[in-house]
Amino acid sequence: MEAEAGRKELLERLKRAEEAGGEKRIQKQHEAGKLTARERIDRLLDKDSFVEIDKFVTHHCTYFGMEKKKFLGDGVVTGYGTIDGRRTFVYAQDFTVLGGTLGRGFANKICKVMDMALKNGVPVIGLNDSGGARIQEAVESLAGYADIFLRNVQASGVVPQISAIMGPCAGGAVYSPALTDFIFMTRHASYMFITGPEVVKSVTRESVTKEDLGGAMTHNAKSGVAHFAPQDDEECLAMLRELFGYLPLNNAEDPPRLEPTDPPDRMDPLLKEIVPEDPNTPYDIKDVIRAVVDHGKLFEIHEHFAPNIVVGFARMNGRVVGVVANQPKYLAGALDIDASVKGARFVRFCDAFNVPILTFEDVPGFLPGTVQEYGGIIKHGAMLIYAYCEVTTPKITVVTRKAYGGAYCVMSSKHIRGDINYAYPTAEIAVMGASGAVNIIFRKEMKEAEDKEARRKELEEEYRKNFANPYQAAELGYVDEVILPETTRPRIVQALEMLVNKRDVNPPKKHGNIPL
Ligand code: HXC
Repeated sequence: MEAEAGRKELLERLKRAEEAGGEKRIQKQHEAGKLTARERIDRLLDKDSFVEIDKFVTHHCTYFGMEKKKFLGDGVVTGYGTIDGRRTFVYAQDFTVLGGTLGRGFANKICKVMDMALKNGVPVIGLNDSGGARIQEAVESLAGYADIFLRNVQASGVVPQISAIMGPCAGGAVYSPALTDFIFMTRHASYMFITGPEVVKSVTRESVTKEDLGGAMTHNAKSGVAHFAPQDDEECLAMLRELFGYLPLNNAEDPPRLEPTDPPDRMDPLLKEIVPEDPNTPYDIKDVIRAVVDHGKLFEIHEHFAPNIVVGFARMNGRVVGVVANQPKYLAGALDIDASVKGARFVRFCDAFNVPILTFEDVPGFLPGTVQEYGGIIKHGAMLIYAYCEVTTPKITVVTRKAYGGAYCVMSSKHIRGDINYAYPTAEIAVMGASGAVNIIFRKEMKEAEDKEARRKELEEEYRKNFANPYQAAELGYVDEVILPETTRPRIVQALEMLVNKRDVNPPKKHGNIPL
């Protein structure tokens, strides 16, 4: 082919690849409030940083007239680029091409970027918008999904993997995002389910809408499958960029440190008053977090799920920390099944990717009751213990108020390798609260007492004097320091600096057996 003709053909093919499913389908995509795959990549990555690969891949299916339905790129745009100058691999499923469905060629493209990401220590971001397995390609498409699942698992804990669901994601296709670290779901445009409403109706006779079955809020607030519920594509991609800024590119790196701009010795007088006098009065633990971290900025994860525990990323003197905090505003901060799983998942992410963990503790214990016991609070609570015990990144704990029972042990206590454990003077570190304890240990005496009320008050007061404070724990070295609340920020910054070169290991093993 002559040079000029060759150039012309290449330019024509490039144009065709970029036309995706054509004008009409792009219009339909926009009318549904969705951006196209290429528009999404444009907004996700730094300007002009995207390098596309496999632009000319097509399928080779000949069933049902598929040989006449070939599109360059095969319905997924793949490549690499940068976010704030830091490299990431990306794939974006293109709903305008064959419904974004996954066949052999499509899956090969995703596998290729995943392999490159793993080899080069770079995160993978998947933008999902697909009708699922391409029916005409039959087992080829199933094989493609399985190939991706394998890579998701192999990359887990090596490079961060982030999924955004920006349209349909149904059937076995849900399992690739589910294997990644974080899932965004755009409101009113995305859904995830194993089977759609019609199949549900025929099997269980339940009538349910797509939104109720697997919409963004269902998975953000009820199932906990998704971590973020942005309003639309624009917000989703902006949040994704923000999340990326807290993550290292791989497990051999530290998370990116920013030039500190908030004084490390800043003391917030608000902290003197946040924890109420009455131990049963709720307060918002996020007020404490915001008073302590750089510029009061907490990037919350799983905001709508299990609000009795708060998790998210923040910075302390420019360094990224993972914050885990009991939330006295909900269920008095008790740990239930959902909170345990939410906490455990986040703690494991932080440990895998070298993020120090900052724990704020105010927890009356694990939530009692048949719902919790039948649901397996024992194994789910064990998951949180397991996760915290395994951590080798720096662990700093601040007990603001209650640290009762098994929950004292689990929330990064000294005994499970907490590096620095602080307590406020308002801390109560004990097996349980005063009234419960008096009921148990003085049951006989209470029965026999003449003035039961007066005796109860007396005993509770004695119990409080002995245990409703941090000093027994401090005397035993289980608390390193009892601190004035307003000094929390400088204390944490000092501890983090001291721990900057921390090295700790777990015994060599194939892998542990976390109670699932
Ligand atoms: C082949 C498909 C397809 C599929 C959609 N299309 N799904 N082609 N295989 N799975 C095609 C349509 O024929 C249509 O082609 C184009 O994509 C757009 O689809 P529409 O139906 O016109 O769009 P819309 O009305 O927006 O509906 C989108 C949809 C619906 C809700 C996703 O198409 C749908 O329900 N599809 C089936 C979803 C599904 O059950 N997938 C399998 C899940 S199981 P034309 O040429 O007409 O534009 C699975 C197993 C994975 O994925 C296993 C992993 C182990």
